[in-house]
Amino acid sequence: MKRIIQRDFNGVDNLQIEVGNINKLTPLSVLVKNKYTPVLPYDWMTEYGLLKDIRPVKLPMVIGYAFGGIVEKVGLLRDKNLIGKKVIGAQPTGAAAEMINSQLPPLIFEVPDNVPLSAAVTLIGGADAALHAIDSVNVTSKDTVLVTGASGGVGTYLIQLLKLAGAQVIALASPGNLDFVKSVGADIVLNYQEELAAQLKATVAPTKIIDTVGSAALLQLITDIYDNLNIFSLSLSSFNPPKAQQTFKFSNGTIGIGGYKKLLKLLAAGEITAYIQHQYEFTDVKKAHLASKNGPAHGRILLKF
Ligand SMILES: NC(=O)c1ccc[n+]([C@@H]2O[C@H](COP(=O)([O-])OP(=O)(O)OC[C@H]3O[C@@H](n4cnc5c(N)ncnc54)[C@H](OP(=O)(O)O)[C@@H]3O)[C@@H](O)[C@H]2O)c1
Repeated sequence: MKRIIQRDFNGVDNLQIEVGNINKLTPLSVLVKNKYTPVLPYDWMTEYGLLKDIRPVKLPMVIGYAFGGIVEKVGLLRDKNLIGKKVIGAQPTGAAAEMINSQLPPLIFEVPDNVPLSAAVTLIGGADAALHAIDSVNVTSKDTVLVTGASGGVGTYLIQLLKLAGAQVIALASPGNLDFVKSVGADIVLNYQEELAAQLKATVAPTKIIDTVGSAALLQLITDIYDNLNIFSLSLSSFNPPKAQQTFKFSNGTIGIGGYKKLLKLLAAGEITAYIQHQYEFTDVKKAHLASKNGPAHGRILLKF
């Protein structure tokens, strides 16, 4: 089976496609024929050595974190009914491979019949982070939440889950993405590339910020404008808010099994939508990672296997 390997920290250009063996199945194994692996900023940041402090890795390694595919075989201790079923899962040892030997029972979820695998796989590293952020800051219908990175794989789910929670949403996007984030559900859309301070002052004040961009300069600009503000970031590990009534928290926590089941149910019920920017053949991994790195975003990019 083919898989995508990172051998150094010199960036996307040095990724290689190699033939490897599937590890021996154990009683806990679920063998999945992979169809989709989402492209996450976490992938290309690791390839350029940008996450050495927070994500130490041993090279060479298989890249990718999540997979969506069809179960081919199961180990003795796993449910035989899974065979032939659509599943999504996380494979921390690398998911960008034609076959996945998943041996972590909590990290695999059956996908409802009416949900395409391509849509379901965007939940991992996207909607899960969005739900975690919303739960962490206790969003209510009284909140107005400012979302940075609103057009991305996380941001598009943040907008939708915040609207389901009854909050008002202010979304920041680049000029070409303003109509897109509005169509996803944002109430107010602002162009972060032009006179952002003036645009913020002219609109309703947010009570909370959920940040997925990780720019201290952007947070500084926003916090200078308001007195009271709770900031939650998925991307910046530390930031000192300039005013006494402002708080800052970073987290990369998880949502647990119940959280994934909830998100799959919402997708199945049509209450949330998966926005897929583009699907690349896995052999075009370099193009896919450069598109993610260079933007603009439009939901999640997928690699097809
Ligand atoms: N902590 C966790 O558990 C966790 C989990 C998942 C993701 N994350 C992090 O969340 C972040 C977003 O992930 P993602 O998958 O949504 O990324 P993505 O799909 O690549 O989206 C990136 C977003 O950032 C915006 N952006 C880029 N440069 C900007 C700038 N200079 N100022 C303002 N906005 C800018 C883009 O807007 P335009 O396209 O409109 O320019 C786009 O909306 C990443 O840092 C990722 O590592 C953290």
